[in-house]
Amino acid sequence: MSEHALGHFEQAADLYDKTTGGSTRDVAIRALDLLPAVAPDSIVLDNACGTGVVTSEVLRREPTARVHAVDFAANMQRRLRPDGRRGPHVADCTFTHSITNFALHLFGDASKGAEHIYRTLKPGGAAVVTTWEELGYIPPLQKAQLGVRPGSTPFRIPIPDVWFQAEHLEETMKDGGFEDVEVVPMEVYYAIDSLPALYESFRHFFTGLTEEQISQMEKLFMGNARADGVIFQQDGQELLGLRMKAHVAVCKK
Ligand SMILES: C[S@@+](CC[C@H](N)C(=O)[O-])C[C@H]1O[C@@H](n2cnc3c(N)ncnc32)[C@H](O)[C@@H]1O
Repeated sequence: MSEHALGHFEQAADLYDKTTGGSTRDVAIRALDLLPAVAPDSIVLDNACGTGVVTSEVLRREPTARVHAVDFAANMQRRLRPDGRRGPHVADCTFTHSITNFALHLFGDASKGAEHIYRTLKPGGAAVVTTWEELGYIPPLQKAQLGVRPGSTPFRIPIPDVWFQAEHLEETMKDGGFEDVEVVPMEVYYAIDSLPALYESFRHFFTGLTEEQISQMEKLFMGNARADGVIFQQDGQELLGLRMKAHVAVCKK
């Protein structure tokens, strides 16, 4: 992960939970369903845990499971463990379950990340690693940007294109040592209520715009997003959301 990207996550820790629109949590919940059920004696790695979306879901299912929640950005981890301690070196074949939710593509060396997942997983254990295929908020944002600045280069999220492909995720996990890798597609929704916080976290990408253009663009973005939105269910509520597509790699050792 680059210094710039790490700085982004350090600053974004407070905003993070508001900016995911529930989408990373929904993928985590459904991805956990693709693994053997977590049991009281399970030892689970929440790799690049962020603010603990995966950890909280694992503990909700099985409060006595042991969860190792590890993150690079200290601010993120402090949200989860107030003493801010980082974990020790992890022995080979430690975890029964290993989850890396929307993070492998951010590691400086993703193959090494995959090797770590493989090395620390017990034989018979299973890992899930997720990446995005489509981010439903990008088209309405690009359209808004072109509304404010016709002819400008459309905004791209700073994730290399290759990480939006299922094949790349599969190859990376195989490079890490896994022989049994299946990548399954998953669709979730991004709650439109969270878009203003997301927009706030993106605004540093839009250099050279006046404050007036920034707020005009936000209005256009919200209007475009509502036009693209569909009704979905989250925590028993009906919400308006943007469709997001994920790749979920289920890797068995
Ligand atoms: C998009 S967030 C996902 C967080 C969490 N897994 C979730 O599902 O909400 C990516 C996380 O990866 C962390 N990260 C990036 N590179 C890392 C690395 N090399 N080691 C550990 N964590 C890393 C970031 O600090 C950030 O918290």
